[in-house]
Amino acid sequence: MSENKKDIQAFWGALYDSLYGDGDKDITRDELLEGLDALEDMFRLRRHMAVVEMPLADIRGKRVLEIGPGAGGHSALFARHGAIVTAVDLTKVRADATAAKFKILGAVDCVAMQGDAENLSFDNDSFDIVYSNGVLHHTASTETAMDEVFRVLRPGGCAVIMLYCKSSWHYWINMWMCGGLLKGKAFGDKNWLGRATEWGGKDAQTVENPITRCYTRGGIKKLFACFENLSLRKGEFYFYLIPKLGRLYRRWQIKHYGTHPGGYLVYGEPWPMQSPLERWLGGVMGFAWFISATKPEKDA
Ligand SMILES: C[S@@+](CC[C@H](N)C(=O)[O-])C[C@H]1O[C@@H](n2cnc3c(N)ncnc32)[C@H](O)[C@@H]1O
Repeated sequence: MSENKKDIQAFWGALYDSLYGDGDKDITRDELLEGLDALEDMFRLRRHMAVVEMPLADIRGKRVLEIGPGAGGHSALFARHGAIVTAVDLTKVRADATAAKFKILGAVDCVAMQGDAENLSFDNDSFDIVYSNGVLHHTASTETAMDEVFRVLRPGGCAVIMLYCKSSWHYWINMWMCGGLLKGKAFGDKNWLGRATEWGGKDAQTVENPITRCYTRGGIKKLFACFENLSLRKGEFYFYLIPKLGRLYRRWQIKHYGTHPGGYLVYGEPWPMQSPLERWLGGVMGFAWFISATKPEKDA
């Protein structure tokens, strides 16, 4: 394995420990079922692609591949809706956390394993849906990973993918203007964006995030050039991400709007509820591209 991939594994392994601690490893069946109800409800409030682009009511019996399941919340949700889920994560502790959730659910058709998005161990045309949330912009070659997504999807199958959006408030104002330009972080550091993203967890983070990329609409179209029926929309805007002032806002936000327990399974803590204004701004200048596209039928 390349040094680069080892760094990626080390970062996501450390972030798992920091975000979830033992709470995730010791989760009981009742806690998981309750957590999945809450997760689905939170996704519906946020209009997240896990419930909008993913046809949850229609995935029973479908072969779904999740690339980069993290702690396995999304994969477990799809398994609970009857999908036959295969989950592949570069980081062993995360693949194991996902496998443990399948076991608790009794989802005997679902498997989770360690593997690399850029070199998937599956035959061509193996899956009805390939799902990946916030993963492929962190790998060494997003293009190679997208070629793999295309290869393992069956003709007519659907890719449902979230990638970070460059044409967003978070990229230009919070990260580029406040960190990159004013603090001078973007100069002479090829990985300034990696260092500016994915901060979280209960402990001070010591391992650096090796790679993050953000995409314009044109960049997404290029990545999905082999697909058809490409649909993209923006989502996810949070005032609390504004440097410094955001911390004050977050305190006010939690007091005013409260938190949602749906965050536990995917962030290790409750999710601070968005204001209606933030939800609207997400559609205009959010940091996430929610993407869906289909692989053309062979004779098309
Ligand atoms: C931001 S987390 C996303 C986790 C999950 N999808 C979610 O939304 O909660 C990124 C995940 O991608 C995984 N990852 C990074 N590069 C990968 C690669 N080349 N192949 C497979 N997984 C990868 C990391 O180990 C980590 O679990």
